[in-house]
Amino acid sequence: MSLSTNQDLDPLRLRQAFGFFPSGVVAVAAEVDGELVGLAASSFTSVSLDPPLVSISIASSSKTWPELRRAKYLGLTVLSEHHEDVCRRLSGPVAQRFEGADVTVSTGGAVWLDDGLAAFECTVYQEVEAGDHFMVILSLHGFGHDETDDGPAPLVFHRSGFTTLARPYKEPAVTEAPIAPVLASRWSPRSFDPEYAVDDEAETSLLETARWAPSNSNQQPRRFISARRGTPTFDAIVSTLNERNRRWAPRASLLVVAIRVAADPLGTPYPHADYDTGQAIAHLQVQAANLGLASRQMGGFDAARLAELFGLPESYAAVTVTAVGLAGRLEDLDEETIERELAPRVRMPLDELVLVRDR
Ligand SMILES: Cc1cc2nc3c(=O)[nH]c(=O)nc-3n(C[C@H](O)[C@H](O)[C@H](O)COP(=O)(O)O)c2cc1C
Repeated sequence: MSLSTNQDLDPLRLRQAFGFFPSGVVAVAAEVDGELVGLAASSFTSVSLDPPLVSISIASSSKTWPELRRAKYLGLTVLSEHHEDVCRRLSGPVAQRFEGADVTVSTGGAVWLDDGLAAFECTVYQEVEAGDHFMVILSLHGFGHDETDDGPAPLVFHRSGFTTLARPYKEPAVTEAPIAPVLASRWSPRSFDPEYAVDDEAETSLLETARWAPSNSNQQPRRFISARRGTPTFDAIVSTLNERNRRWAPRASLLVVAIRVAADPLGTPYPHADYDTGQAIAHLQVQAANLGLASRQMGGFDAARLAELFGLPESYAAVTVTAVGLAGRLEDLDEETIERELAPRVRMPLDELVLVRDR
């Protein structure tokens, strides 16, 4: 990281720099003239306990804020990890902002999302013009929050994207020298969030990393089948998994079958087909971790049945199925799988693994 003083602050780069600071997201909503009005704000901050005050910053170009501020009371809801779609809608076209959302409207007109993590009832205390935003300081008149210990995690906005506070039940890898954080914290869970959907961009990004993985003589003797949960292809892949894997893998957001191509169309074998296919999936797993997603490979499936279902040519053989998604909760697994899941992550010591290390 380098920094020079007195630079011209390019707004685009500044926005990127601001994006390194993670924040939660709140829905700010009220009923105004009988209509639900609301927006999403990642600028929520607690300000004072006595008197109880919080603040949000709203772009002065916002067309929603002049409407919202007319409400007698405003509702703030702290969004949970399940609210990614709701949050996108609250930042999208006005007519669809509350589509499919269950809300509560107070007698004063404050609006809360029913399954939020915490909710506040507020009035405007002070509005301060601050550059291209208004800093709105709000007085609190009521609040409530999730009372459970293991309730959903908050939705987190970070570097222009959504993520959540991962609650891994595994420790990061213990290494003799530091390794890239994304590799140190990666692991292969069996529990996936059954609500989470991988979007088009994330899926393409994963497949692109597989495509760009190195390959012997650039022969690329590997092919993939990628299917999202809810599609017939996903169900077809699940039907080939062994019983143990079928207990957890259907909750993943995406299944990627890695297929090794044994020989070229003239029958000449590709000497590194397995290696190149594994390498592509290794890269895909790293990219998944980089996107905040978890993944787990499976060799436990019926490759012959899969080949039959998808009409694979004779030289194609499915090697693994990789489950990708948002890591889920341990409690959602069955007892036997929980036991396997809690087994410590261990590896051979380095000096056993490395036969020769000449230094
Ligand atoms: C080729 C291959 C096949 C695997 N097959 C399965 C499988 O069928 N079921 C399963 O639950 N995990 C399977 N795994 C996942 C490994 O068990 C897992 O990567 C290993 O325990 C290390 O876990 P970690 O990535 O959390 O360190 C497979 C991994 C690989 C590389």
